Amino acid sequence: MISRQSVDAVINAAAIDEVVGDYIALKKRGANLLGRCPFHDEKTPSFTVSPAKGIYKCFGCGKAGNSVSFLMEHDHLSFSDAIRRLAQKYQIVVEEDNVQNSEEYNEAQKVRDSLLVALEFAKNYFKEQLKTEEGLVAGESYFRERGYTQQTIDEFELGYSPQGWESLVNAAVTNQFNLDYFVSAGLIKKNEDRGTYFDMFRQRVIFPIHDLTGKVIAFGGRQLVKDDKSPKYLNSPETDVYHKSNVLYGIFQSKKGIKALNNCYLVEGYTDVITLHQAGVKNVVASSGTSLTEGQIKLIKRFTENVTVLYDGDAAGIKASLRGIDLLLAQGLNVRTVSFPEGEDPDSYCKQLGAEAFNKFLNEHVRDFILFKIDLLLKGVENDPIRKTEVVKNLMQSISAIPDAMKRAAYARECSKLVDMDEKLLLSEINKIRRKNGEGNIPTHFDEEIKDILQTNLPEPVVYEMGEEQELGLVKLLIQSGTQKFTEEATVADFIFKELQEDEALQINHHLYSRILKEVKQQMEEQLNFDEHYFTNHVDTDIRKLAADILSETEKYELSPFWLEGGKSIPTERENYIRDLQSVFLFLKLSKVNKLIKNNLDEFATVTSATDIEHCTEYNIQLINVRNAIAKIMGTSYNVL
Ligand code: CTP
Ligand code: MN
Repeated sequence: MISRQSVDAVINAAAIDEVVGDYIALKKRGANLLGRCPFHDEKTPSFTVSPAKGIYKCFGCGKAGNSVSFLMEHDHLSFSDAIRRLAQKYQIVVEEDNVQNSEEYNEAQKVRDSLLVALEFAKNYFKEQLKTEEGLVAGESYFRERGYTQQTIDEFELGYSPQGWESLVNAAVTNQFNLDYFVSAGLIKKNEDRGTYFDMFRQRVIFPIHDLTGKVIAFGGRQLVKDDKSPKYLNSPETDVYHKSNVLYGIFQSKKGIKALNNCYLVEGYTDVITLHQAGVKNVVASSGTSLTEGQIKLIKRFTENVTVLYDGDAAGIKASLRGIDLLLAQGLNVRTVSFPEGEDPDSYCKQLGAEAFNKFLNEHVRDFILFKIDLLLKGVENDPIRKTEVVKNLMQSISAIPDAMKRAAYARECSKLVDMDEKLLLSEINKIRRKNGEGNIPTHFDEEIKDILQTNLPEPVVYEMGEEQELGLVKLLIQSGTQKFTEEATVADFIFKELQEDEALQINHHLYSRILKEVKQQMEEQLNFDEHYFTNHVDTDIRKLAADILSETEKYELSPFWLEGGKSIPTERENYIRDLQSVFLFLKLSKVNKLIKNNLDEFATVTSATDIEHCTEYNIQLINVRNAIAKIMGTSYNVL
């Protein structure tokens, strides 16, 4: 916990115009400043910042707040992280209340700070080396050959590491640095036998890797003399400040452009980013060798929901990147793609065409990714039913990763035309894949979303009446799968108890079932085991018998009869417990809402006054919205009463 005093100090120091000004351009307008709102799309600026009051307000979308809430909203930070970020900007030391934590935190922070200082020193050293005689001949001339201007070299802080084995070592020693930090940063290595140190980056041009705020956290170095014994590109190892999977090369230089253009180009490496930037494509980042990770996608999502992947021209390259792209889709991003002629990468093709023609090429050749993939895979298999089916299944895999049901449906429709197959069949295939992957509902967003819906839209508190069947459903899940993982951190049992606890209206009435739940809870609190054997060997005969009954039907236990009231039940296998579990709670909520709708309609039939009629109609609309929202999460259209 950050101490109250520190929070106050940070809030007092933070100037709203400076904080917002880091993200959007502001123009003076009287006592206030005006800019384009970063939270919604707008052509005429209506985002107003008042330095005197320390607040912002957008008259377009209504978003308002202070420096802290701006960072929280804009960069999706927690309150504490927003305070820490501001503290860094204003160089305020943040005190943590919890002494032990703060000591640990300070220790780790000290290590990180020292690493950053070493990296900063190295960066400046490499930059200087570019201006030495050796650097000019070997390094600068190389960059010029690649077509980089001085401005580009400066903006990306490019550098040069000299030929010798101890240049950086000597420079660091001369400047009285502790070499340990250079060693952990992967810049210097110790020869244990001799006790001497030597440089890792030798005779290479240097590409510093910046974090979001512009601090250098790692380096890439490209060899200038071909030497098969060492890699063409040498990259820093993982350190306390460099977590590869959360870093995108070029994000610091491109974040403004990505935000402004509401699109992010994704390329392969350093040289693609730099060449495109210089050609005026200012919204480009690279995942640097590794295939795309979730952390990198989250980073992009802070600035835009739109990604355009730029492929190398060779077929192998395209096929290889297809996999990473499903991950983008799964994170809810809109993915487009541009492919290049055989043998060309974005860097080489941009240089070949020149800036203007290259930009034109990008705009003219951008395609929706899924449609592109359909074309690519269908080529040559149209008349081969077996291979075509395989391709279609593969395509459905991609589509099934998209979280938005409407988008999935739109793609299924488009796809059905292109592959000449029934749309319904494709949709059912998509849903099958989603069920198999335990998708359909995203556990971590699940509670919040439903709670919001129920609390914000319903005028009366909702009471759920759990029938005995539903209660038994929960107990089954607990006994069969309670100890299984539901999310990274939580087990199925964790989830059930959290749901039950957060929603007081959910009560278990059945005597035996409620005893089992209480007992499991106690076992959990004491961190004791409650797996299958616990129940089958229980001292209580009733529990023992129930457990045996439940476990003997493991093969194909069905979640019905409470899955779909009027409709058909969906048999699920035991591994599908994730989906089942959510269904139990979703179904409870849904059936309750349905009951409210019915009650309201009954009342509607009896009322006569205009205000009552209006009230009932209004309420009916609200309830139906709630029902649709729940149904959407369930992935079913549930229109019957
Ligand atoms: N790359 C890498 N490691 C390698 C090869 C490539 O990290 N061993 C990345 C680099 O980020 C580079 C990009 O992939 O910018 C493009 O690769 P490539 O074209 O091979 O590198 P260039 O430096 O452009 O080499 P060349 O002049 O031969 O095209
Ligand atoms: Mn290249």
